[in-house]
Amino acid sequence: MMIIKEQRIGVCGSGAMGNGIAQVAAAAGHQVIVYDNNTAALEKAKKNLEAGINKLTEKNKLSLEEAKHLLERVQYTAELSTLSPCALIIEAIIENLEIKQHLFRELEQLCTDTCLLASNTSSLSITSIAGVCKNSSRVLGLHFFNPAPLMPLVEIIPGVATHPEYIEMCKQLMESWGKTPVICKDTPGFIVNRIARPYYGEALKIFEEGIADAPTIDWAMKELGGFKMGPFELMDLIGHDINYTVTETVWKQFYFDPRYKPSITQKRLVEANFLGRKSGQGFYQYASDSVSPAPKKDVHLGEQIFLRIVCMLINEAYDALYLKVAEKRDIETAMTKGVNYPKGLFQWAQEIGPEKVLLQLEELRAWYTEERYKPSVLLKKTVLKVN
Ligand SMILES: NC(=O)c1ccc[n+]([C@@H]2O[C@H](COP(=O)([O-])OP(=O)(O)OC[C@H]3O[C@@H](n4cnc5c(N)ncnc54)[C@H](O)[C@@H]3O)[C@@H](O)[C@H]2O)c1
Repeated sequence: MMIIKEQRIGVCGSGAMGNGIAQVAAAAGHQVIVYDNNTAALEKAKKNLEAGINKLTEKNKLSLEEAKHLLERVQYTAELSTLSPCALIIEAIIENLEIKQHLFRELEQLCTDTCLLASNTSSLSITSIAGVCKNSSRVLGLHFFNPAPLMPLVEIIPGVATHPEYIEMCKQLMESWGKTPVICKDTPGFIVNRIARPYYGEALKIFEEGIADAPTIDWAMKELGGFKMGPFELMDLIGHDINYTVTETVWKQFYFDPRYKPSITQKRLVEANFLGRKSGQGFYQYASDSVSPAPKKDVHLGEQIFLRIVCMLINEAYDALYLKVAEKRDIETAMTKGVNYPKGLFQWAQEIGPEKVLLQLEELRAWYTEERYKPSVLLKKTVLKVN
């Protein structure tokens, strides 16, 4: 097996993700070369890395000596050919299939025969990127979470033609970088961005129906569910443009499965440029003098909201397992380490009782006559105790 551990790592794209991944690789001792086609972005990335590392030294998480060496290990370049000696190149440029395909074709021409090529794409198929390469067996997905230096999860996604040995190599490498890797089939949204959809989608539906307002739904999920952030606070933080696009992409890639249907309310926020925190307004207002509306702390209503959303999440987890998107253990890890859920969804199913989860879904399905609430075959099998 080829050893990447001591070797040079290339990163394409010096934005939030690329720069974060570069920091992680440099912290693990690699020489890192960061390429971007925009020199202003490179300048900004270099400054951001320095500022981030300085903060770590101020907090005594890194000595001045270590910080100096870490920064020296990261080189920024606008010249793609500088990446030629790398053993692994991780691409984190703009989320556009044609542009990524073009870059991968160029990378193949300049890198060594043994260099692995990875994409950090959130929503594109790894196979569709690998498909344009001469040697698609060395292409895979390495999906980090934002901010990459802090979030432990990395989804490793083999494309249809990826060689299994490279998956194992990347798994070991990610572990050596202090990350928690999970293996995931090349399917829309991978693990986290697929299973987490109802956290936003079902909350938006409850909101649109007028069952509860945003602060009340957020309160229910935090207070009764133990989530760190409510769905509306979280969508405001992620940005409605990004969150809406992920939902729409997953929905389209699943051939318009009603489970993933986007929300018109959220679309209107995007159109109004009410993108959340970054634009100063989303479901909440972020001006310093604005006051958040108070939630209606009705425990009965809160429990209904929590049960409805968590049962939809559990159903997604069962369905992902049923369709062999990932192993059960990896699904639990992904949701707790990638989006900080207070517990794994299978554990939650056991605590609530799979019978109760199934009943909730059947009731919603009968009431709304919508396939959106269709229980996973695996959930039904679990309740009926059949194989
Ligand atoms: N932001 C997130 O939360 C997040 C999380 C996981 C994965 N991702 C994925 O990571 C990738 C990058 O996301 P980001 O948030 O860092 O984006 P970003 O906009 O912050 O950075 C993208 C960078 O790529 C550069 N770039 C664009 N086209 C290029 C090209 N053709 N060649 C070289 N450089 C080019 C841009 O100049 C920019 O600096 C995307 O595929 C995204 O889906 C994002």
